Parts: sequence; C-alpha cells; structure tokens
Amino acid sequence: MKLNMAFKVVLIAALAAGCARSVPPPATPSDASFAATAWPGTTIAELEHGRQLYGARCAGCHLPVAPASVAASAWPGHVDEMTTRAHLTPAEATLVTHYLVALSTRAGR
Ligand code: HEC
Repeated sequence: MKLNMAFKVVLIAALAAGCARSVPPPATPSDASFAATAWPGTTIAELEHGRQLYGARCAGCHLPVAPASVAASAWPGHVDEMTTRAHLTPAEATLVTHYLVALSTRAGR
C-alpha cells in the first residue's frame, strides 16, 4: 500500500513536469514595453491573451514551438500559415503573433 502511494506521487510529479515543459513562458513587463513600442497601445494583458491562445490553439497537433527557437521576423509568416489550421480569427492571430515576436525578441532572435 505504501509503495502504491509513493508510485502515485512520482507519477503525478512526472505528469506535472511534462505539462510545465509545454506551457509557453509568460510575458514580462520588459516584453510589454517592447510590444508597446512596436505596436502602440499593446498591453501586457494582450500579450498574456496571446500566450493563452498560443497554448490552447497551437498545441493540438504538435507541441507549442518555443517562442525563442524561431527568429522574431519569421514568426508572423508561421502564424499566417497556421491561422486556418488553428481556427484563429484575424484579431486572435495578431495577439498570438505579438506574443511570439515579443518573446523571440527578448531572446535576441
Ligand atoms: C491542425 C493542426 C495544426 C495546428 C492547429 C497548428 N499547427 Fe503548426 N504545424 C502543423 C503541421 C502538420 C506542421 C508541419 C509542417 C507543415 O505541414 O506545414 C506544423 C508546423 C509548424 C511550425 C514549423 C515550421 C513549419 O512551417 O514547418 C511552426 C512554427 C508552427 N507549426 C506553428 C504553429 C502555430 C503558431 C500555430 C497556431 C496559430 C499552429 N502551428 C497550429 C499542424 C498544426
């Protein structure tokens, strides 16, 4: 019985770690100040909305591609390509693009 309990704890920890890896990183205040310069009026709440859409809608067919693993200038084209597949409205696609470009820029891509 004790062994069974320990096994469950290990299993839950492993599942939690697996989930954590596929959750896209949150936007920071410095991402927000970059975004407000690049797209005047953009707020950290909008970047966060973009992040949620990215995690929810761009991770069904494949794991979400790490924002920093793609050049900032290449993200808009990728999102365009995937907008229909992810059933995003143009406004949602813009939120996702801003989030991805801001995080890629932060990483120096
Ligand atoms: C209906 C399934 C599906 C959804 C939803 C989806 N993708 Fe994809 N994605 C694919 C497939 C399949 C590939 C493999 C290359 C291809 O077919 O273009 C891919 C490849 C990619 C690539 C690798 C670059 C490339 O073109 O090969 C990126 C980046 C990407 N997707 C981003 C996204 C983003 C951002 C979203 C959300 C807006 C998204 N994907 C939603 C199926 C999907």
